[in-house]
Amino acid sequence: MKVRVKVPASTANLGPGFDCLGLALKLYNTGDAEETAGGLEIQIAGEGEKSLPRGKSNLVYKMIALAFARSGKKLRGLKICQTNEIPTARGLGSSSAAVIAGLVAGDMLAKARMTDRDILDASVESEGHPDNVVPALLGGLAISSMEGKKVQCVIVSPPAGLKVLVAVPDFELSTKKARTALPKSYLKTDAVFNINKTAFLVSALFLGNYSMLGSAMQDRIHQPYREKLVPGLREALQIKEKNTGIALSGSGPSIVVLSDRRLPEVKSRLKDIFNKRGHAVRLLELEPDSNGVQKKFIS
Ligand code: HSE
Repeated sequence: MKVRVKVPASTANLGPGFDCLGLALKLYNTGDAEETAGGLEIQIAGEGEKSLPRGKSNLVYKMIALAFARSGKKLRGLKICQTNEIPTARGLGSSSAAVIAGLVAGDMLAKARMTDRDILDASVESEGHPDNVVPALLGGLAISSMEGKKVQCVIVSPPAGLKVLVAVPDFELSTKKARTALPKSYLKTDAVFNINKTAFLVSALFLGNYSMLGSAMQDRIHQPYREKLVPGLREALQIKEKNTGIALSGSGPSIVVLSDRRLPEVKSRLKDIFNKRGHAVRLLELEPDSNGVQKKFIS
């Protein structure tokens, strides 16, 4: 039996919605997995082909093994073929995509009968926060929170015509390092600022009110502390365009731009911002994904 699982990238936080908001994007990692008589073979093509592990520390493998363990079935051997479009360690949810791919593929192979909730709870246990795994599994704009160890989430369709531009610089930043840069406590004024902006941002996206995006995507909880890790972030966040909001994508270092249109001038400004600091940058023109994970048996 062989399964194919296709998981979207995601951009988390969207500015103020730290550990809460995430948007699935039409950029995918695809994984084929089949149980074999013994051993482990992992092939990786595309993003991460030079850096991702091909042994038992591979995240897709670990999650397939977890699904087997939960089902009580023994995993004899496994062959995994990964074809990755999501850049690694760039704030586009590549590890969440791997976690979801592994759990969904493992559930299918082991017939573990995990529900979406089981998969979300297990994936948050691995990732530590819900804002990438929820859109990776369910698609759309995800609003998530934790009740103890249980994920609660609401999925909203992003407004029609939402255009997403992502600037992906040529350096990696681990989420762990980007989280270590954050303070343990915050000023009440900054907390209130983010609560206001998050409420406005969700309303703006729900209503399709693009004129609110620029103001609503401001943040004081994480981006200011991550400026020192992402050269050019401060300058990128100063770009102002009508009907457009700009933020650090997840924990960075990519920058995400949400707008009602394609923005060639913003593209070239983001390119200049990274280039003049000595970094090459890829500029991806994307759209929201509304499917979340797609899965099928292929033999
Ligand atoms: N909310 C997480 C963070 C997203 O900003 O650390 C990580 O992709």
